[in-house]
Amino acid sequence: MKRIGMLTSGGDCQALNAAMRGVVKGLSANVDELEVYGFENGYKGLIYGKYRRLTAADFSGILTKGGTILGSSRQPFKLMRTPDENGLDKVEAMKQTYRELELDCLVILGGNGTQKTANLLREEGLNIIHLPKTIDNDIYGTDVTFGFQSAINIATEAIDCIHTTAASHNRVFIVEVMGHKVGWLTLYAGIAGGADIILLPEIPYDIDKVVDAIQKRTKDGKGFTILAVAEGAISKEDAALSKKEYKAKVAEHKYPSVSYEIADHISQKLGSEVRVAVPGHTQRGGSPCPYDRVLCTRLGSAAAKAIMDEDYGCMIAMIDGKTKRVPLGDVAGKLKTVDPDSQMIKEAKRIGISFGD
Ligand code: F6P
Repeated sequence: MKRIGMLTSGGDCQALNAAMRGVVKGLSANVDELEVYGFENGYKGLIYGKYRRLTAADFSGILTKGGTILGSSRQPFKLMRTPDENGLDKVEAMKQTYRELELDCLVILGGNGTQKTANLLREEGLNIIHLPKTIDNDIYGTDVTFGFQSAINIATEAIDCIHTTAASHNRVFIVEVMGHKVGWLTLYAGIAGGADIILLPEIPYDIDKVVDAIQKRTKDGKGFTILAVAEGAISKEDAALSKKEYKAKVAEHKYPSVSYEIADHISQKLGSEVRVAVPGHTQRGGSPCPYDRVLCTRLGSAAAKAIMDEDYGCMIAMIDGKTKRVPLGDVAGKLKTVDPDSQMIKEAKRIGISFGD
């Protein structure tokens, strides 16, 4: 008999359901009796005891379904130790829900912030398995996170679509790609979409270098230029500011996001217009791509095995093509960023892609 709880927390992505299905199918086929409790809207459900009993039928037909059947919400890690507006101790409340249901373990699907709370619950004595979800691919200790490949497909398609219209009209276009504070998604979609300039948070840009790259293309007879810009991209000048100074600067300026600022600066220097396209949350939507379906089926199945082995307190990672249990304490709170000196960046530069540095 196993009694497990499950929740999806933070920004959603395409393969959450596929991963939960993997866990439950892996357990149902191997455990005599299984009870699954799904907490609604992430940690909120665990804190306030909002859950429902799920059966095998709930996990049937969801491999290809985007979003999450449990709902999700953002519950910032830094506020977990702060009582809610009614004075409720959230951590104690989560422990109480877990104990009342007599859970053997809690399977938590989420990104970095979610993982930090998962580790806190582990430190508080709960049995935890974490599954690495995020389109940002920034979870330390796993080669890849689920959602990432599906988002690459969507962001690439957005760049592809912009490519044809930019070419027709001889325009400079910026496609802004999600990724929070890291550039993985922009790097992959940018290369896959044939972007001429890729700007990442990890490689602060110099606007003059960006303009030089556009002018070089014009000199070479190319009428249009595509920039793939990470939502977290930052100029060299801004990167030199303190966090506080940077926040104050952003609060003051008129731009809805970094791409509009870059577009404005380029168009002032070139004297011609620059268009911005923001695919935004489409990057997290729709069905998971086949790669993510396979990844989640494997991660989910490996999580089921860890539960059967009663080996808790870990993230199920994918390393060198193999699923692996990585201790949560070793990875929580760390970020996986793009290495500016990596082979991939060098290879991209060799074929003429500018990173504005
Ligand atoms: O972490 C996933 C992500 O989509 C980031 O790429 C993005 O910065 C953020 O979530 C957007 O969050 P929200 O959906 O809360 O606006």
